[in-house]
Amino acid sequence: FAAPASLTVHADRPGPTINKYVYGQFSEMLGTGIYGGIYVGEKSPIPNTRGFRNDVIAALKELKVPLVRWPGGCYADEYHWRDGIGPKDKRVTRLNTNWGGVEDPNTFGTHEFFDFAELIGADAYINANMGTGTAAEAAQWLEYMTGNQDTTLVKERKANGRDKPFKVAIYALGNETWGCGGNMRAEYYADQYNQWATFMKTAQQPGPIMLASGDRSGDWTDFTKVLMDNRRAPMDGISLHYYTVLGDKWEIKDNATGFNEEGWARVLANTLKMDGYIKTHDDMMSAAEKKSDRPTKKVGLYIDEWGTWFKPAPGSNPGFLQQQNTIRDAVVAAANLNIFHKYADRVQMTSIAQTVNVLQAMILTDGAKMVLTPTYHVFHMYKPFQDATSLPIDLKTGNYTFGGITMPQVSASAAKTKSGAIVVGLANLDPHNAAVVSATLAGVKAGKVKGEILTGATMDAHNTFDKPDTVHPVAFNGAKLANGKLSLSLPPKSVVVLTLQ
Ligand code: AHR
Repeated sequence: FAAPASLTVHADRPGPTINKYVYGQFSEMLGTGIYGGIYVGEKSPIPNTRGFRNDVIAALKELKVPLVRWPGGCYADEYHWRDGIGPKDKRVTRLNTNWGGVEDPNTFGTHEFFDFAELIGADAYINANMGTGTAAEAAQWLEYMTGNQDTTLVKERKANGRDKPFKVAIYALGNETWGCGGNMRAEYYADQYNQWATFMKTAQQPGPIMLASGDRSGDWTDFTKVLMDNRRAPMDGISLHYYTVLGDKWEIKDNATGFNEEGWARVLANTLKMDGYIKTHDDMMSAAEKKSDRPTKKVGLYIDEWGTWFKPAPGSNPGFLQQQNTIRDAVVAAANLNIFHKYADRVQMTSIAQTVNVLQAMILTDGAKMVLTPTYHVFHMYKPFQDATSLPIDLKTGNYTFGGITMPQVSASAAKTKSGAIVVGLANLDPHNAAVVSATLAGVKAGKVKGEILTGATMDAHNTFDKPDTVHPVAFNGAKLANGKLSLSLPPKSVVVLTLQ
């Protein structure tokens, strides 16, 4: 049994705002992530609005998705935007060479993406093609989307049905340029980025956040370093990708269900590495800012791919990256979100990979059927953190240990919402033992506490199309307030969000 945990929430030392974009989603043209999962076409028997599944749209709207990234991923660096505009029956069919080698009809293009984003109430993050595209193509795409004068590109957008400009919140140049995006050296990419970014002119005010493609994970640091030291054109952020896998090597992946406790422990220990990775990059960025006498924390870290990556679901196309989603994924999500809140001054955006049917998805579909995953429920429970003021915490927790793998048993973060409530997010990483937590709120006196909990009967508890509610949040009445002190017991393998007023 781990020792009781003690938590102090410093409402007396408010920190930076947790950018709502930290709750972003990634929707790549991959497998059934978009085709089938989000978009089924107007003629589908599945109830839809202009081709978008009504059930999926309603669920994502309810999630308050602030931002969605598209079209990739690796897909982005082979995507030519002209393939996806104009009458659908005239659009070209390409091969999706990255993901399963399937035919890609391009019926979901720029207009459909913005329609989707607007239907769910999200801002748009567009990833431009540097790998096989040109600066001219990326600049013209931006003009097509955001232009407001009487140019041929703007007229073309209007002829295609969109009068007023689309709003591009983030414009990224290339993706994983160290790998699928072109196998570039950091120095070469930094030069390319500066050249391209110079020409991304737009009528949109303010213009999009300009994003450079960065490192794979915290143990690769050359892109962050080289980009920070060679900023010439506008660069508001640098991306970082880090996926949770089973082993020390990328190739070693776990089963999404039916795993053993070693799998549970390894996956969570790997998840917690996110903290050190962010710190390494944050420190490097601060050092570069200091050295160049530029304002600090101006360039954000944009973790635009994160989440679990397991073996493909049995019987699925391995290129479609389909996997089930269990209470382990829920604890992974909560632990990551707690880490992102800690670095609210640097981490300005994240997008979990990916929204529907791909990797650590919010939603799974099969034909007309849809199910919400445990990860969806965590994002739903954590909604109050969007745009809230982060609050520093002191957390002393015992450890959860399995074999030689040891990690803190409890993960936590706290914030103050715009309405003045204090929210505390907690996860118990131990699959067997409850975690007793005694908490103090410094600088505020709360009179009421309410909460929600997500847990499961087994380490791989999950929802299926036949049993969609096996893992779902319920009210948590286990937190007690007495004399300004909060005490609670977190059940094993659980996620709890408390609201104090
Ligand atoms: O999310 C799936 C893929 O993972 C993305 O396309 C790529 O950027 C990363 O390697």
